[in-house]
Amino acid sequence: MTVAEAKAGLEFKPGLEGVPATLSSISHVDGKKGILEYRGIPIEELAAKSTFLETAYLLIWGQLPTTEELTAFEHEIRYHRRIKYRIRDMMKCFPESGHPMDALQASAAALGLFYSRRALDDPAYIRGAAVRLLAKIPTMVAAFQLMRKGNDPVQPRDDLDYSANFLHMLTEQEADPLAARVFDICLILHAEHTLNASTFSARVTASTLTDPYAVVASAVGTLAGPLHGGANEEVLEMIEEIGSVGNVRSYIDNRIARKAKIMGFGHREYKVKDPRATILQHLAEQLFAKFGRDEFYDIAVELEKVVEEKLSHKGIYANVDFYSGLVYRKLGIPSDLFTPIFAISRVAGWLAHWKEQLGENRIYRPTQIYTGNRNAAYIPLEERQFQADSPDAN
Ligand code: SDX
Repeated sequence: MTVAEAKAGLEFKPGLEGVPATLSSISHVDGKKGILEYRGIPIEELAAKSTFLETAYLLIWGQLPTTEELTAFEHEIRYHRRIKYRIRDMMKCFPESGHPMDALQASAAALGLFYSRRALDDPAYIRGAAVRLLAKIPTMVAAFQLMRKGNDPVQPRDDLDYSANFLHMLTEQEADPLAARVFDICLILHAEHTLNASTFSARVTASTLTDPYAVVASAVGTLAGPLHGGANEEVLEMIEEIGSVGNVRSYIDNRIARKAKIMGFGHREYKVKDPRATILQHLAEQLFAKFGRDEFYDIAVELEKVVEEKLSHKGIYANVDFYSGLVYRKLGIPSDLFTPIFAISRVAGWLAHWKEQLGENRIYRPTQIYTGNRNAAYIPLEERQFQADSPDAN
């Protein structure tokens, strides 16, 4: 489509802002009222009463499971937590300095080598792939953490529930019950969020009818970016850089003066405080009350106050990434694992969208507005001059 054709018709929206790219019944966000619902259930209800696995079931299959369904689902997840030794051996070749999100993307894609059948019209295949990905992603995240420290990975423990087992595989210690519950609530909060960038990647990849492991690997790569899932790691780096409550105001003034984004704030949808940030703040307060307060939390509270004072007129408030890092840090989790943990949770949402896309599929193929040359001449090599103003020259 040429610019002229476009002017006559469709309008280009950078980042597809406000452009519906699918119909979906999985989750709903009201950015003006700060509402998030999974299959119609408010996130506050699920955070208070549900578990991550029950929430994953709700997202993927569209209804809360019965006792029998949940028990069977939890049993299947426990059975599939282990990973093939070949994947472990592959991960042993990854450089210790590699980012855990790159390790996760590579190992998620590698799963597809072992489960290559693509019976996408078979509900049993869909369920099997969903169970394997939900069960094995935490094991792979924990395995890379231990291996990059030169240790053998810890096998999953069937006597521990989903979150307690992950924390055990990660730390080789049994987690405090409060820590395990807080972690499980964090997974609930991060599980799904309508058509965010990584979920959109998942749907585009799913629409080509490739396998679910490629779908998840594609979404992991998208989530890794600092404007998306990578922000929680950068929030902690920012708090460390600020160093004290007294430095907050000058730091924020400087960032705003340089038109630099402040990590953990702002959102394409929310123009009020992200409801997940509110719940995460309360979880952080619980952990600091039990395990000891430090200045990081005080700096965060001051940061939120100053940013709200200076940027709320633009609809910029704390988002899900602002307090999540503080919670994970208090649980003793290294900051470069924050985004892999986001991925462990968001696999539930990606799988729900994968399944929904398959239900009524049409391959994604948007159009563009062409702004380049037309009918250009091919200039022989010997006649070409260096173009200093060429956009590709720099
Ligand atoms: C997640 O989409 C999802 O649902 C994502 C997510 C999920 O659950 O999947 O919620 C998870 O990704 C949360 C967001 C984590 N990222 C960050 O915290 C990075 C910092 N935030 C920004 O990069 C930004 O707010 C985005 C990317 C999140 C949203 O950006 P938009 O909607 O494209 O907004 P924009 O860049 O067009 O900014 C609009 C205005 C600009 O000012 P003006 O040029 O109009 O004067 O708001 C300003 C921006 O400069 N602005 C910020 C800001 N975010 C927007 N200014 C300072 N700090 C910020 N964080």
